[in-house]
Amino acid sequence: MKKISVIAVVLLPVVLWAAAPEGVVSYSNDLEELVVNRCGDCHSTKEPKANLVLVKGAGFGNMVETASVQVPEAQLVVPGNLEASYLWHKLMGETEIGKGMPRTMFGAKRLPEKELDLFRRWIEDGAKP
Ligand code: HEC
Repeated sequence: MKKISVIAVVLLPVVLWAAAPEGVVSYSNDLEELVVNRCGDCHSTKEPKANLVLVKGAGFGNMVETASVQVPEAQLVVPGNLEASYLWHKLMGETEIGKGMPRTMFGAKRLPEKELDLFRRWIEDGAKP
């Protein structure tokens, strides 16, 4: 019993940290793996959907302060400005062109709240690399 509670005390902060990073969210530390897994199949280097490549090493530069192809007057990610970031509206499924992201065979499927929260924090924290 004692052993178990010791393990819990040691591990719990690690588990919580993994679920919700403390401090400023950065793309490489907190978001890139998620983006590659969730988005990389369609937004790959070979015929990327909407011309957007989100594979490892490419996502940050292709989203931050980069114009959308669907709404060229908007940028995909405007550091510190969630409302102005077209990516956010795609994730929330509130754009007029196309569907919400990520798409599936059956239409858009909204990400779990925890993951949306990471995107939100990343943009609000200034979209750090
Ligand atoms: C099953 C394929 C698929 C998946 C998975 C997918 N996308 Fe897309 N994405 C598309 C297609 C197709 C379009 C263009 C049509 C549309 O908007 O529905 C698009 C368009 C976009 C656009 C608009 C680009 C622009 O410049 O206007 C963004 C932003 C985007 N996707 C982000 C993402 C993100 C982030 C993920 C992962 C969370 C993701 N997508 C997952 C297929 C996909």
